[in-house]
Amino acid sequence: MKMSQPEKHEPLSPIQPSTEVLSFLARRRSGMVKCMGGAGPDDDQLALILRLAARVPDHRKLFPWRFLVFQGDERAKFGEHLAKKFKQDCPNMDDDRVEFERVRFLRAPVVVGVISSPKKCPRGTPVWEQELSVGAVCQNMLLAARASGFSAQWLTEWYAFDPEIAHLLGLVSTERVAGFIYMGEQSEDVPERPRPKMDAIVSNWRNLTV
Ligand SMILES: Cc1cc2nc3c(=O)[nH]c(=O)nc-3n(C[C@H](O)[C@H](O)[C@H](O)COP(=O)(O)O)c2cc1C
Repeated sequence: MKMSQPEKHEPLSPIQPSTEVLSFLARRRSGMVKCMGGAGPDDDQLALILRLAARVPDHRKLFPWRFLVFQGDERAKFGEHLAKKFKQDCPNMDDDRVEFERVRFLRAPVVVGVISSPKKCPRGTPVWEQELSVGAVCQNMLLAARASGFSAQWLTEWYAFDPEIAHLLGLVSTERVAGFIYMGEQSEDVPERPRPKMDAIVSNWRNLTV
């Protein structure tokens, strides 16, 4: 789908209420990587998903994130590294478990590594704020993938936190994996999961100091 991109300084239209968007959000759910497959987004669809994912609040326009796309044979090659590292760390694990690591990235046709890449900011945008921005990127990517007709799930699993895998991914010392967004077709319905009781998490602030 072609989607025009606003030009810099282009006035964007006033906010329009959208029951379609509200209904989309009310029923939004992550997919499950175990029931993902099919063709996945093509190049144009993926480019749009990534572009929309990158339209997030970002204090001082630092763009403190980047994407690593895994597609085609590269997923299997990455799996070889996962299996090797897993076997090295857990030498007593059985072959089936190691094989699972080998095919981990084959669970979905497209996997996007979202890398938190905080920038040194002379005016002092805290790293915490930059990391919050990367969380917004991941969520936007889930939304954009779903709105493009794909199931998507945000996973970290063990390899998001492994220093050797980080090296293999080309991360520098200040960078971290925010998550891997798996995308594909949804082969089964996903049941709704528990949501918070809003009374338990929403309150009105009251001034208790007087
Ligand atoms: C940062 C982050 C990391 C996650 N990592 C995992 C993971 O490694 N394994 C897992 O089963 N779910 C993981 N999840 C949870 C799922 O992706 C997903 O949020 C959950 O299954 C259902 O949420 P939803 O349907 O409301 O989107 C993670 C979620 C977040 C936010």
